[in-house]
Amino acid sequence: MRNVNADTLTDLLLALSGPDTDPRLQEVLTSLVKHLHAFTKEVGLTHAEWRKGLELLTRAGEITDAERNEFVLFSDVLGLSSLVDMVNSPSDCTSSSVLGPFHILGAPDLPVGGDMIGDNEGPQVVVEGRVTDQSGAPIEGAKIELWQTADNGLYSNQDTAQSEYNLRISMTTGADGRYALSTIRPAPYLVPTDGPVGDLLNATGRHAWRPSHLHFIVQAEGYRSLVTEVFPSDDPYLDADAVFGVRADLVMEYRPGDHAALADDIAARDELAEGFSKVDFDFVLPPA
Ligand code: BEZ
Ligand code: FE
Repeated sequence: MRNVNADTLTDLLLALSGPDTDPRLQEVLTSLVKHLHAFTKEVGLTHAEWRKGLELLTRAGEITDAERNEFVLFSDVLGLSSLVDMVNSPSDCTSSSVLGPFHILGAPDLPVGGDMIGDNEGPQVVVEGRVTDQSGAPIEGAKIELWQTADNGLYSNQDTAQSEYNLRISMTTGADGRYALSTIRPAPYLVPTDGPVGDLLNATGRHAWRPSHLHFIVQAEGYRSLVTEVFPSDDPYLDADAVFGVRADLVMEYRPGDHAALADDIAARDELAEGFSKVDFDFVLPPA
C-alpha cells in the first residue's frame, strides 16, 4: 500500500472489509466513503477547513447530553433527518416528519374527547380525526402520543413554569379509530442556537425558526409506527422551516369552531371560549 494515492485510496480502503462484513453495512459504508472522498477532491478541502469541521463535531459531542443531542440537530438543519423520512415514507400514507429533541416517555393517558388545556393560556382548539389503514378502515387500539409547546413557544421540559407533562398526552383509539381532544394552539419557536449548529446557521445567514406544530407518534399492532407533526396552514414560517419538516399533507386548517357541532364526548365543550378553532386530521398507517 506504499504507493497509495488520491486515485487508489478509496478502492484500497473499501477492499479492506473482511468476508464476514454484513452486506448492508458494506453497501452503506462503500457509498459513504466514496461520497466523502469525492467531496474532498471536488472542493479541494484544505487542512484548515478539515480541522474546522472536526472542531465543530467535537463541540457537538461536548454539548450533547441525555437532554440535548447536537448531532441530531446538525442532521435536522442539514436536511438529513427529513431526507431519511422522505425516502422511507410510502406515498399513500401520512408523511412522517422529524421527532425533535423534546419528546419524553410516560405522558398521561387521556380518554378520547378529553381536555389538555387545563390552566394553559392561548387560543383554544379542538383537534379530531381517525387513524385508518390505507383502505380507510379504522384502526382500533392505536396509541397516539401528542406533545406541543405552550403559548410561549416552550415545551414543558424547557420551561420550569410548566409541570412535567404539561401539553403531553397519550390516547388510545376505540373501534371507530377516532381520537379527539381540546388543547391550545402551539406557537412557533427557535431551534437551539447556542452551540455549533447555531454557528453554522449564523455563518450561512439562516434563521432558526420552526413553524408551530403538534407532534404525534401513532403506533398500532400490525402497522408501521408513524412519527410526524401537523402544521397550521396560516403559520408565518410554514415555507421556511429551519429543519424542513413541513409536507403538504401535514398542513391543516384551523377553522372557526362551533360549540353546537362538537361531539358529545368533547369534555371541555361547554367551557371552550368563543372564537375557538376546530382542526380535523386523519392518520393513515402502512402495514408493518
Ligand atoms: C422540534 O420540533 O421539537 C424540533 C425539531 C428539530 C430540531 C429542534 C426542535
Ligand atoms: Fe417541536
